[in-house]
Amino acid sequence: MSDHYAVMGNPIGHSKSPKIHALFAEETHQSLTYEALLVPLDGFVNAVADFRAAGGKGLNITVPFKQEAWALEAEQSERARRAGAVNTLWFRDDGSLFADTTDGVGLVRDLTNNHGIALAAKRILILGAGGAVRGVLEPILAEHPASVVIANRTASKARELASLFGDLGSLHGCGFESLSGQQFDLVINGTAASLEGEVPPLPDDLLAANASCYDMMYGAERTPFQLWGTAHGAVQSLDGLGMLVEQAAESFAIWRGVRPDTALVIKRLRQELRES
Ligand code: ATR
Repeated sequence: MSDHYAVMGNPIGHSKSPKIHALFAEETHQSLTYEALLVPLDGFVNAVADFRAAGGKGLNITVPFKQEAWALEAEQSERARRAGAVNTLWFRDDGSLFADTTDGVGLVRDLTNNHGIALAAKRILILGAGGAVRGVLEPILAEHPASVVIANRTASKARELASLFGDLGSLHGCGFESLSGQQFDLVINGTAASLEGEVPPLPDDLLAANASCYDMMYGAERTPFQLWGTAHGAVQSLDGLGMLVEQAAESFAIWRGVRPDTALVIKRLRQELRES
């Protein structure tokens, strides 16, 4: 019987994970099955126990269960411990459970490998201070940027995150109003503003020469933040589709010991998004 995997979330209907992992399996000649499971809001722990009892090998966890997954009894990676969230569970053959988060490394790989944007020595601005941003801070700081500023609508949350990760590098938290007069080489949008068709209030001269913009969201159309980046001189203004595929590749590598090539999968998904 093939090894079985799944993604758990609520809602889960639009998840691209089953498609991505099926493509990875095909490409690496691995025999496995992967499904999307809608889990009741109060039923996460039971759903994980049932999946494990049925012999499931690994899970991806998405909204709103990443914090609950973090609270499970498991051997946690350092980056998951820091992130306060888990998106990958691996039920190992010796009966132990390994918990990791691959979102941040997915973002970094998309930036560096797919788009040629090195983070070392860069001035980086991250917009937002929710779970999505918390999950990417450790891998970003591990690239040794010159500095990272977190700016958020609620400034206190940005300052809180900055103090939580401040031992890992030069990190500063503030509100959007404090950005005036500052310039950045890379601006990453981790707010949910794009979902509402909005862009956080940013100064017009925020981008340094040759700066890039990256929205952790994606859609059929360019996001409002991507459009903002292009209109304000970004040399590249990217969305988060590559991050989605890269975080999946990292999970796949944890489970299967093989890293799939992501380029073709990203291309396929992009094509489908355009046609949707
Ligand atoms: P996630 O887990 O996706 O990060 P979250 O924890 O709810 O979700 O965080 C959402 C983030 O988007 C927060 O930083 C939020 O700002 P506040 O902390 O001030 O609430 C930000 N956000 C949501 N809508 C926004 C908008 N219209 N403009 C700017 N920031 C917005």
